[in-house]
Amino acid sequence: MRLSLSNVCKSYGQNQVLNSLSIETPEFHSLAVIGPSGGGKTTMLRIIAGLERPDCGEVRINGELLVFDDISLLHHRRSVGTVFQAYNLFPHLTALENILLPLKHAHGYSQVSATQTARTVLERFQLGAHADKKPAQLSGGQLQRVAIARAIATKPRFLLFDEPTSALDPEMTSEVLDIITELREEGRDLVLITHHMSFARTAADYCLFMANGRIIEDGPIEPMFTQPNSPELQRFLGRVMRYQ
Ligand SMILES: Nc1ncnc2c1ncn2[C@@H]1O[C@H](COP(=O)(O)OP(=O)(O)OP(=O)(O)O)[C@@H](O)[C@H]1O
Ligand SMILES: [Mg+2]
Repeated sequence: MRLSLSNVCKSYGQNQVLNSLSIETPEFHSLAVIGPSGGGKTTMLRIIAGLERPDCGEVRINGELLVFDDISLLHHRRSVGTVFQAYNLFPHLTALENILLPLKHAHGYSQVSATQTARTVLERFQLGAHADKKPAQLSGGQLQRVAIARAIATKPRFLLFDEPTSALDPEMTSEVLDIITELREEGRDLVLITHHMSFARTAADYCLFMANGRIIEDGPIEPMFTQPNSPELQRFLGRVMRYQ
């Protein structure tokens, strides 16, 4: 896929979070977004997901202009798979029901075909035995697997991940990172905000480094790590790679 953002700005009150952000990526399959906390990564991803409107600027995905009226946004959101750090599962519904809900209500599946699709994705992520459990009865890793299962059940055009492992312990983190690797190897396009630099390096083919609401540097992943150009990226990598 390709992403193109042109002079995108977004403020919350006095706080300018995206500061005339522009980027035009080449074709990629897996894009890693890295950068310091508060730099605007999540805000940019939410705009790409159609969950947030920019105050100005243009967003194109594969050359197609994203239109920010209610109807267009609704269609767009339904075509994208999103997985965020806090699971976003409904606590009163079982794992199975959480996956059924968007299939039936947003995508028009019948009860029978939705159930069939949901059971298939649950099995795929070894969650078959947990289908009838509610979120409170599942571990963090299982919850995140349900969230990923729900995201891919609707056959999205691409997947967006925002620090999907930040709430997980190391073992569950590997479990979820393995799934993301698998999805990538299947040829799904994805955008991933992550603070796992070694994972970004193996899983992504292109990288954006964001700070202070702008893209400071972008390029194919490996040279970004081995030959960072900007002092900001050099400083950032110096800090975060110390304990990797
Ligand atoms: N809904 C909101 N209302 C008000 N301020 C917000 C909102 N969302 C984000 N912000 C502010 O925007 C700035 C950028 O936030 P954002 O979450 O995009 O950064 P980030 O790069 O994802 O950071 P982190 O790595 O900590 O997740 C922060 O100062 C944050 O407080
Ligand atoms: Mg964030």
